[in-house]
Amino acid sequence: MAGKRYAGVIMSNNRKLFVKTYGCQMNVYDSERMADALAPAGYEVTDKAQDADLILLNTCHIREKAAEKIYSELGRMKPLKEANPDLKIGVTGCVAQAEGAEIMRRQPAVDIVVGPQAYHRLPQMEQRARAGEKVLDTEFPEEDKFDHLPRGPKMRRAPSAFLTVQEGCDKFCAFCVVPYTRGVEVSRPPARILAEARDLVERGVREITLLGQNVNAYHGAGDGDWGLARLLRELAKIDGLARLRFTTSHPNDMEDDLIAAFGDLEKLMPYLHLPVQSGSDKILKAMNRKHTAASYVRLIEKIRAVRPDLMLSGDFIVGFPGEEEADFQDTLALVREVNYGQSYSFKYSTRPGTPAAERAQVEDVDKSERLARLQALLTEQQQSAQRAMVGREVSVLFEKTGRLPGQLIGKSEYLHAVHALCDSARIGEVVKVKITGSVTNSLSGAVL
Ligand code: SAH
Ligand code: SF4
Ligand code: F3S
Repeated sequence: MAGKRYAGVIMSNNRKLFVKTYGCQMNVYDSERMADALAPAGYEVTDKAQDADLILLNTCHIREKAAEKIYSELGRMKPLKEANPDLKIGVTGCVAQAEGAEIMRRQPAVDIVVGPQAYHRLPQMEQRARAGEKVLDTEFPEEDKFDHLPRGPKMRRAPSAFLTVQEGCDKFCAFCVVPYTRGVEVSRPPARILAEARDLVERGVREITLLGQNVNAYHGAGDGDWGLARLLRELAKIDGLARLRFTTSHPNDMEDDLIAAFGDLEKLMPYLHLPVQSGSDKILKAMNRKHTAASYVRLIEKIRAVRPDLMLSGDFIVGFPGEEEADFQDTLALVREVNYGQSYSFKYSTRPGTPAAERAQVEDVDKSERLARLQALLTEQQQSAQRAMVGREVSVLFEKTGRLPGQLIGKSEYLHAVHALCDSARIGEVVKVKITGSVTNSLSGAVL
């Protein structure tokens, strides 16, 4: 086959890459970058696993169910390998980091296991796998993987994009695997982030969500006095970029200058994901969260004083070791006091190697029963926040066409999914919409 030019390299082969992504937004971002890293080796992305020459499962280890899913998925992929002997299968992401060679022992169809810090080495790993080697790379390298990850061919991008600015975590909450799977907290140099953001805008991106496991702990890379607030202010200067968001934040890193940005940085959207996990001080202490329920509530009050219409979302864990009915009642009380527009709640899942795994566990029936009660309250809050939008004017960044003819779907400044009848030429524009209806997970409206 005739070679295709890519970044000065003549490609001799055209291969297909299928990536399946689990877990958080950082994995979504990483999956794109893995595809970028493999593009110079001749790989094009396909959405059909059966067409692929290389399948990557980009995995999540946060809860037991998420991790176990990978093994059943790998089982389902075995026949593909029988049908195509050239197919190589790789496991990437947090399960790869946490379980390493165990994955190959449990599932011999796997050729490559690579942790989140080594994606820049994927092209070499792929070649070694093609030569018949089983490749395992879960080292935390000295070099910055981001420096070595190319951006793919200059293709048009969807209007909303993720951009990782910080990775890893040093907080060691007693339930959480992230410090072990993603490593210590590392911030990327601001100049690189700004260059990547400009590049995204040139590709048609209008909204950038900055990602980090503790994004608000962003501190630059030894290049002066950088924090997330300063980074946001610099990014806001990029012409053509309409909106900025960031996630996920930790309450203890919510500095005053970042709070102030919600008041005066027009491009920063009024939405904040600020997990609290529990409303009980006893449990927060056992979780090693290093804040109290009251300090969290005070913080919310402070942010709302700056931005009264802020839409707040949270994460909650029920049934953490030691949680009793009274502690759970404290969580319900905090939820009632704060009032969330959006929430994510989970039964505590025992993670091997974390401190809480060693403690006496709460019965699963109690966890299930508490989760149901918490979710009833959170759903009620989410629905009433959504209903409160009816009759209001919001600005919507249209991202794609909807299910019905003539319909577009986008996000409001508050991150509500909104659909409205609108010309598809306006995908990528921020448009004023009057909200006319609210269903379970989205709003409908009319373009003004
Ligand atoms: N860095 C983020 C959280 C990343 S994990 C933060 O600190 O807020 C996303 C969410 O998964 C957490 O907020 C928590 O609610 C949940 N989670 C993490 N470990 C868990 C576990 N072992 N069991 C159940 N839920 C868990
Ligand atoms: Fe996990 Fe806690 Fe770090 Fe969040 S802050 S990633 S919950 S250890
Ligand atoms: Fe999962 Fe790893 Fe993200 S454990 S939530 S994919 S950081």
